[in-house]
Amino acid sequence: MHTFIPTVLLSHNIKMKPIFISFLAAGNSVKNILSPQISGGQNVFPHDFPWQASIQVHTGHHFCGGALIDPYWVLTAAHCMEHHQPNQIRVVLGEHTLSEAEGSEQYRNISRIVLSPFFNAVRPEYNYHLPYDLAMLELSTPANLNSVVKPISLPDPNRSYSGRFCILTGWGNTGVNEDGADVLQMAEVNTLDNRMCEDTWGYYIYFGNLCVYTYGVAPCQGDSGGPLVCLDNNGYVLAGISSWADIDCGDHPSIYTRVTENLGWIRDVMDKRRA
Ligand SMILES: *[C@@H]1O[C@H](CO)[C@@H](O)[C@H](O)[C@H]1NC(C)=O
Ligand SMILES: *[C@@H]1O[C@H](CO)[C@@H](O)[C@H](O)[C@H]1NC(C)=O
Repeated sequence: MHTFIPTVLLSHNIKMKPIFISFLAAGNSVKNILSPQISGGQNVFPHDFPWQASIQVHTGHHFCGGALIDPYWVLTAAHCMEHHQPNQIRVVLGEHTLSEAEGSEQYRNISRIVLSPFFNAVRPEYNYHLPYDLAMLELSTPANLNSVVKPISLPDPNRSYSGRFCILTGWGNTGVNEDGADVLQMAEVNTLDNRMCEDTWGYYIYFGNLCVYTYGVAPCQGDSGGPLVCLDNNGYVLAGISSWADIDCGDHPSIYTRVTENLGWIRDVMDKRRA
């Protein structure tokens, strides 16, 4: 589900290889291209990423990831939410193995979906894709914070988070023809300078993107909306939200929405609720 119309594109003004692109709609995961097993990706130690959210339809089908940033708010990708009403979906926190009731799960309904006002699915006039691919989900009752459900800190607006090792997580497909993962997966990835990412994707990249690349590792369908976290002075911070990638979840940089470029909007939405 959630497959975007694969948009074929590129050609004229791309500097390097002409690449077909497609939107990654739901999901992420990490796959070893050389083997059907996840590579670079591995099972997380249970609840090492206590901000990770699974976004599901009420039947329990996982379709996107998210990140808890406050007891009331989960940040995810706008393209995950475009076609949903709040009453159609739920957020699961404290989750590790999707198919098992482990006793740590917290299920929350959604009272509101707030898409970034700047989100736009396709901006052909600017030749970039999914700008401001962020949505905030307001939980109808707040998360109970404990050792397995904890918000992730927002990033330092003065840092670029490029050229570092960061960690992506999700239950997305473990390869383009594979199913989603049952146990939450993680992978360490290198964050690129946007200029390096433009070598592959050209003008599909804009300043609000943060690209990641490590050979054999890519978020895949079902990872969308999920967090990219980087270690800062005081622990992990949320640097990106999974937006889109190569259609084969393969060997090209994958694109996140930079959280630093959206802090004003995020704080605004949270403040309005409190007001
Ligand atoms: C959450 O939403 C579902 C579907 O609309 C509903 O059946 C359920 O009662 C709701 N739960 C709470 C706690 O409101
Ligand atoms: C970011 O830089 C500005 C200007 O140098 C400074 O005023 C601000 O305190 C910095 N913010 C953080 C979180 O370090």
